[in-house]
Order: sequence, then C-alpha cells, then structure tokens
Amino acid sequence: MGNYNFDEIINREDTDSLKYNWRERIFGKDDVLPLWVADMDFKTPDFCLEAIKKRLSHPILGYYDYPDSFYNSIKWWMSKRHNWEIETDWISFSPGIVPALSMCVMAFTNEGDKVLVQSPVYHPFYYAIENQKREIVKNPLKIVGDRYEMDFEDLEHKLKQNVKLMFLCNPHNPVGRAWEKDILQRVGDLCIKYNCILVSDEIHSDLIMQGYKHTPMASISKEISMNTITLMAPSKTFNLAGLATAEVIIENKELREGFRYVISDILHMFTGNIFGVVALEAAYSEKGVIWLEELLDYLSANVEFMKDFLKTHHSKIRVFEHQATYLAWLDFSQYKLSHKQLSDKLIFEAGVGLNDGAIFGKEGMNMMRINLALPKSQLKAALERLTILDN
Ligand SMILES: Cc1ncc(COP(=O)(O)O)c(C=O)c1O
Repeated sequence: MGNYNFDEIINREDTDSLKYNWRERIFGKDDVLPLWVADMDFKTPDFCLEAIKKRLSHPILGYYDYPDSFYNSIKWWMSKRHNWEIETDWISFSPGIVPALSMCVMAFTNEGDKVLVQSPVYHPFYYAIENQKREIVKNPLKIVGDRYEMDFEDLEHKLKQNVKLMFLCNPHNPVGRAWEKDILQRVGDLCIKYNCILVSDEIHSDLIMQGYKHTPMASISKEISMNTITLMAPSKTFNLAGLATAEVIIENKELREGFRYVISDILHMFTGNIFGVVALEAAYSEKGVIWLEELLDYLSANVEFMKDFLKTHHSKIRVFEHQATYLAWLDFSQYKLSHKQLSDKLIFEAGVGLNDGAIFGKEGMNMMRINLALPKSQLKAALERLTILDN
C-alpha cells in the first residue's frame, strides 16, 4: 500500500472540467463515460496544492519575476529523471506546449513552408501548421508486429524536399511509443543533414512504463542539441493542465532568441502564471519522484488490467505494445464496421467517450484512443460497456 490513493473516485461534475463539460459538444451525448482528453481523474498531488495555498497566503498576486528556484527545479528534474544536464539560460517559460509549437512555426517558418509530422499524431500538431498557412508534410508511422515504427526511407525522402521544421512526438501520442535512442539519433542526424529544425514535444516524457526509457532528443549529442527545441511540462505528469505552465529548453542561442522574440516581443506571453510556477517547483522535487513512481505503478496496473480484460472479453480489439503515456491506442478493425458505425456504437450504445482515432490522421480510421488515468473500478465499468460490440 503506497502513500497515495489512486482508487478514490472524485466527482468532477460541475467543476468546469473540459473533459466533462464538452461531452455534448464532442460526442453529441452529455453522459458518456469520459475517457478522452488527456488529463487524469486522480487528485493533483497534495504537495502541489499546498504550494499554491502557501502562495495564496500573500495577498498580492501582481506581476512577478521567475525565481532561481523555478529554473533550478527544472534543471534538477531533467538531471534526476532524464540524465540530461541543462543550463538556466536554455530555459524559457511557455503557457503550454501547443502554444509553443505554434510559436515555433511563427518564429522559424514563413507562409507556404513545409513542416513534417509523423502520423497518426496528436491533432493540434496539424492545426499549428495549417492554420498558419504552412504545408503539412506527413511521414506516416508503420505498424510492424504489435507496435509502430518510423519509416526512415520516407523520412529522408521528405526531408530532402526543403522541410523547415519537424514536429517529433517523443514519447508518441497516440501510439504510445517511447522512441529508442538509436531511432532518435537517426532522426536527429537526418534533420541536421537536411537543415531542418527539430521541435521535440516531450510532454509525456515522465509517463514511461516499466521496462522502457525516455531519451530527451537534445541529450543525444551536442550537434543534435544545437538543432533541437525541447518542449516539456509538469502538466500531464502531475495533473496541472489547468495552470497553463510549460518549459521550452533550447541550447542554441540563435534559436532561443528566435523563440523569445515571438513569445516576449510579439505576443507578450512570457509573464506566466504564479500558481503554475509554484506548482511546477513543488512537482519537480523529491516528493514528486515518490508520487510519480506510485502513479506509474497504478497506470501500469491499469494497462495490464485493460489488456487482460480485452483479451478475455473483447479479443477482436487489438492493443498495441504500450510503452508510454496514459493513453492507449486500440484497433477495432476486426469488427468490420465503418468508422462511423464504430463511433456511433461506442458513443450511443456503449456510452463511452473515447478519442476518435480519425482526428489523429487518416491512419487512425477504425482506431480509438482511451485514457487510462482513472480509478480501476471506473476503467472496468467502461470496458464492460464494450460488450455491445460483440452482441
Ligand atoms: C503530445 C502532446 N502535446 C501537447 C499536449 C498539450 O499541451 P498543452 O496543454 O501544454 O498545450 C498534449 C496533450 O494531450 C499532448 O498529448
């Protein structure tokens, strides 16, 4: 028995939670069991909540300056968890990872330029590119056995076509891959060879299942680090998404200045969020390490539970090797339903709200993404509802 109780069911109705409030908008049904958007139905750790309460004991919440402790906690966490030594100067604040992706597009590309993604992928990657009138270039991932792999021949072919920026998802959402170091090295080296700046979204880097490892792209070599912009945050790991606080890590001075010009001089978004900063400091700590280990044990148990449950009761649903994130990628194609039929059955007959695989790209047809960061009893209830597919 650990220190934290992840089995506790916490009522989030009427708390202005997006996961709950947007059910009608996303699914057309306001009472589906919500296993979609990536936040957790577990309590934000008590030490983060305490840090926020402590800050509230001072009655002025005016503009503030990032304290040394903000930078030091990020540096400590990167060293402790990821064996990556970084310097204070390399760190910039961002109100989120998606805003940072969009700011990279603003800073380093012009209208009409090409930006590469590896589909299926977290859908806001597409919006950050196409809504700024840049061209999306896809390097689709390939299914090999029960996991996804990169297609390097296609990647090199695409990079030759004057791609300015690559968005890497490391670990990958939605396919749950924690990319191995040798794979990352090949990607990093190819980007250098073809003069393509690499933006590595590592928001899920702390959510790695047992037996796998996260390698920060920029930790691989000095050359790769000089061509990489790393996006990280405590928001997924510690359930702090509502505080809009992330860190952007860039060793290369020129790239750093390019990014800071956009966030500071154009958008004036550098001022941040007092509560986000104190919560980040509380999270990236020894206490955070203990909490995270317990969370990962719980999430791994949920993954195993889901796999066993599906194997026993819904063996037509294919589960991919799950290496990272609390989002699992499920393939329903053996049911031989159209994507619309599948989606309607899940929403209106089973009453479960999963992320529709097609939002991640056309490679996601007949697939769904399920959020496993919830008490096991609720996960079981959701999986039981899938019986409808087998009737
Ligand atoms: C890969 C990835 N990047 C970014 C985000 C969102 O980041 P933010 O809320 O900081 O914009 C998510 C959330 O699910 C994600 O999965």
